[in-house]
Amino acid sequence: MEKKILFPQVSGFLHGGDYNPDQWLDRPDILEEDIRLMKKAGINSATLGVFSWAACEPTEGNFCFDWLEEIVERLYQNGIYTVLSTPSGARPAWLDAAYPEAMRVDARGLRDHHGNRHNHCMTSPKFREKVAAIDRELARRLGSHPGVILYHISNELSGECFCPLCAERFRKYLADKFDHDIEKLNKAWWTAFWSHHYNSFDQIEPPYANGEGSVLGLLLEWRRFTTWNMTDFLKFEKETLLGITPDMPVTTNFMRLFGGLDYRKMAPELDVISWDNYPAFHNDSESFADTMSETAFQHAVMRSMKRDKPFMMMESAPGLVNWQAVNKVKRPGVHRLACLHAIACGSDTVQYFQWRKGRGSCEQFHGAVVDHLGTDDTRVFREVAQVGEMLKAIAPVAGTCVNSQAALLFDWDNRWAIGDVRALADDTKKYEDTCLDFYRAFLKLGVDMDIVGSDEDLSRYGVVVAPMLYMLQPGTASNLKTFVERGGQLLATYLTGYVDSDQLCWLGGFPGDGLAGLFGVISEEIDSYYPSDRNGVRLFDGSVWEVRDYAEILRVKDAEVLGVYTGEFYQGTPALTCKSFGRGKAYYAAARSSASEMTPLFEKMLKEADIPVKKLPENVEYHVRSAGEEVYEFYLNCSEQPVVVSDIFGTEVQTGEELCGTLALPGYGGAVVRKTAV
Ligand code: GAL
Repeated sequence: MEKKILFPQVSGFLHGGDYNPDQWLDRPDILEEDIRLMKKAGINSATLGVFSWAACEPTEGNFCFDWLEEIVERLYQNGIYTVLSTPSGARPAWLDAAYPEAMRVDARGLRDHHGNRHNHCMTSPKFREKVAAIDRELARRLGSHPGVILYHISNELSGECFCPLCAERFRKYLADKFDHDIEKLNKAWWTAFWSHHYNSFDQIEPPYANGEGSVLGLLLEWRRFTTWNMTDFLKFEKETLLGITPDMPVTTNFMRLFGGLDYRKMAPELDVISWDNYPAFHNDSESFADTMSETAFQHAVMRSMKRDKPFMMMESAPGLVNWQAVNKVKRPGVHRLACLHAIACGSDTVQYFQWRKGRGSCEQFHGAVVDHLGTDDTRVFREVAQVGEMLKAIAPVAGTCVNSQAALLFDWDNRWAIGDVRALADDTKKYEDTCLDFYRAFLKLGVDMDIVGSDEDLSRYGVVVAPMLYMLQPGTASNLKTFVERGGQLLATYLTGYVDSDQLCWLGGFPGDGLAGLFGVISEEIDSYYPSDRNGVRLFDGSVWEVRDYAEILRVKDAEVLGVYTGEFYQGTPALTCKSFGRGKAYYAAARSSASEMTPLFEKMLKEADIPVKKLPENVEYHVRSAGEEVYEFYLNCSEQPVVVSDIFGTEVQTGEELCGTLALPGYGGAVVRKTAV
């Protein structure tokens, strides 16, 4: 595959972040100094305009872009490119005073007062009209400036609104979805239950906190609607901008595995995926290496939404943040490691929130490249400048991709359905944690999985793991069958295939929709355990995996039994099975065991799929990016102790050192090795 350069204007990686000169317009000396400091830190991009509505339109219809234009130009003259944000992340006071419908209504039916941010009614025609007006002006004034390389739409789109306009839009969305046939909806939502039958779409309300909470189809459709409405808003801003400057690429910043929106549905509207990465480094509940692998998982989620190009790390903290339970500073070296980590996982940008700390309001103590001290003589500034140097040194890596051969299936719908189901155990459903657990176990084998939806093309993968795939979308079963038939190694677990995309249970045995035939098993019961309950799975080599939380009791039709339960009244019955199907294999793990215990099974699957595993020292993360003949290996020491990695051959890209066997990494050190062709 060819290199995919995100921004041809910039050579190598983008290094920059949110820049808020509008907070400093009365201090031209500071704005002048910013340019000098940015150059010193190796900054080549600035994100401008996030939350700048009041500065760009201080009163309705009175647009003031001179200050912004001047700054974009000055940055450009100094080799710094602009990521131009629309200001729709926060509303100015005049707007709410004139058009209260722009303020959201919460689940109790209460309208917000003016204030805060990310809290608009996405349906409100008045709000959209005002957004369109300022976006058009912004695009006209700045969209053709040679320094502007990307539109960043709004900021961290999120949340739901229960106002009458949204309720009406929801009803319309449902009517369209169910072909204006209320009986179709009644059937899909199983409304004969508790007399919840609807006579017409007009009777449907959003799921208010004191309203409907028992019709699972309604809860799910409300979330789908919220994503749909938000995507519609995103599209609307995008089309407004592109109506003036059709060729500008577009992004919006996502937030980790955010639960409120199905990002995969929004991704097609974007030219590049970007996200905001704020790991809680040095916390007291997990190891540093676990924080890193959790972050790698989040990077993989983002990367996998556009698998054939790099993504952007749009925000990260150069120092500390101010909103975590404990806001600890990054230990020396960790900033560089975290930035290299983002690159290793497929990002082509290192961007920060924020360039300079403001003096007041609630983010005054949030980390920034430039502190209140105002100089370049700080530890944080020096570390940022070192990152600037590092990014220049590894510039040839830009445009390469992580080409994973293994994938993990994760669906937002499935996540929502598991969250809503009244069954299992309240505190241990843990769908996201379970996915992370599998991802981590593969990462320890040197395999950085993609995280993809169950409807995506799986043909590029040799191994697919589908944890807790409770909901089967139309087409999922046939997608999985095709994957295995063509030689894929598939692992599914307990809780697979219980419901369809309306949350209706499959009849005739779980996993439904014909998947029982793929795995050769039917799950007859699922046992939920109390937190202290334990069981085991004995494998035929005598080893035992511990079982906690969930265990299904299986009926095996035509699969090989690889492991049986060690306890409970179902002792001796199948707990792990495998069925050969076409040229591949379909494994079924009926109980929850930790993925690290299951590692020998993963090694077997990887081997059968011809995917190499890597012997790595404890706490070292390994990632690979490549394009054509160019292959770059990343070795990241996720601990403060030095470590030596062996079996390494190639050129260390930053130092030019030829490695003939070993690589010594200091605490929190990281290296990029260009592989020598063999
Ligand atoms: C992000 C947000 C930024 C800033 C940052 C602080 O979620 O987009 O504007 O608030 O958090 O960490």
